[in-house]
Amino acid sequence: MEAPLKYLADHQEQWVQDLIEYVRIPSVSAQPQHRPDLLACADWILSRCQQAGLEAELHSTAGAPVIVARTPGAPKSKADRTGRPHFLVYGHYDVQPAEPFDLWKSPPFEPTIENGAIYARGVSDNKGQHWAHLKAVEAYLKTGTPLPCDITFVIEGEEEVGSQNLGPFLEQHKDDFPVDGVVVSDSGIPSLDHPALTYALRGIAALEITLTGPNRDLHSGIYGGSVENPAMALCSMLASLRDSNGHITIPGFYDDLVELTESERAELAKQPFDQQDYRKFMGVQELFGESGYTPIEQKSARPTLEINGLTSGYQGVGSKTIVPSKASAKLTMRLVPNQDPRRITRLVIDHLKSICPKSVTMELETGHCGAPYLVAPTSAAAKATIEAMREATGKDPILLREGGSIPIVTEFQKILGVDTWLLGMALPDDNAHSPNEKFSLDCFEYGLKLGIALWPKLSAAFPQTTPAASA
Ligand code: BES
Ligand code: MN
Repeated sequence: MEAPLKYLADHQEQWVQDLIEYVRIPSVSAQPQHRPDLLACADWILSRCQQAGLEAELHSTAGAPVIVARTPGAPKSKADRTGRPHFLVYGHYDVQPAEPFDLWKSPPFEPTIENGAIYARGVSDNKGQHWAHLKAVEAYLKTGTPLPCDITFVIEGEEEVGSQNLGPFLEQHKDDFPVDGVVVSDSGIPSLDHPALTYALRGIAALEITLTGPNRDLHSGIYGGSVENPAMALCSMLASLRDSNGHITIPGFYDDLVELTESERAELAKQPFDQQDYRKFMGVQELFGESGYTPIEQKSARPTLEINGLTSGYQGVGSKTIVPSKASAKLTMRLVPNQDPRRITRLVIDHLKSICPKSVTMELETGHCGAPYLVAPTSAAAKATIEAMREATGKDPILLREGGSIPIVTEFQKILGVDTWLLGMALPDDNAHSPNEKFSLDCFEYGLKLGIALWPKLSAAFPQTTPAASA
């Protein structure tokens, strides 16, 4: 592995500069005004895949384009299989909205390097992480170091809005992806002293609720008291969905859930975690979560129902004395194995209907959803990824469950029939989805070294597949 590592050392600085160029593009998938930036970003990463020595193509979808980039000779169908194992590396070039802008110490799309980290929206979630994989593969290709496997990158632009078009794209082209497994670096590690394999992610189901009371905003002095205030009704309804123990009160919500085993709880407790630091990091006086579970368990292996947005009435300066006509909330449920997002959505809808007062009318709109993910951390492949982490850091890796969601991972399982190994590179204080998102240069270096160590180890975990020619 000497040649790729030397290539890495020689090019790392340049690659940081290129990553800065990448994160300068405001590829916010949620905001239609950024559509041109999303397309420019797709073109940018397409050309960088080509420059890295990959055979790369851009595929249009009903939403943002998908980039497919293969190592030379990687099979495009089962019949082309080379006899080497074949892995898919997934990443996303879209980013979350950067608002509120005034909380950024430097503008979100004018990257700066400070204290050994690049600050910019999308730098850890997820541009920096798949950039590390791309550059690690480039280090093999450009030094003529033979790869023990074929690799196909799939980089999409709609992860942050639920990957609605990637599933259908994969379904339509599933024969073009004869792969043995998927590698995703779009998650975290507790610290660089604790590299980690994430073997579970939470699922997600989104729902928007709107209550309508009077047919227009009314004078709250003239009418208030005689007519339901939809904001009050909404707040009571939502408040009743969770009890003071942090337990969700919706009937049936926990029915299908698989409890953590004692050994899982012991493994999760291995990660460094200081409650006081955690509390201070978020600026809260006290933590809150479901009783009977540690904060680590609460945020990674227990389901939640959250209000993500809440709107009603007058929001401008000063006061306006009205009974608002409408109130609405954006909700998401985070789900754990084996909760089914569609079933849970059904339960929540039925329950909301049963508690909605007659004094208002309710509209419900379902949004994106994704199933929870769980993969055996004990398979030969999972162990190989752990060995690659050990080689990259010299530290003992740990196993994690994480609370975020990557809905496409369960689609890889369903459509391509293969497992995904989640090899995160981001730190807990990287501020994903928050102001001042960052990616540390040390994490980038970890990602590069991991990307170099990974392929021989992972490939060794797969028995040689028979080349089509001799079949
Ligand atoms: N990278 C995150 C998911 C993640 C974060 C996994 C931390 C593990 C640890 C991803 O980009 C993300 O934010 N996903 C969304 C999915 C949603 C929009 C369907 C999420 O979790 O909110
Ligand atoms: Mn994200």
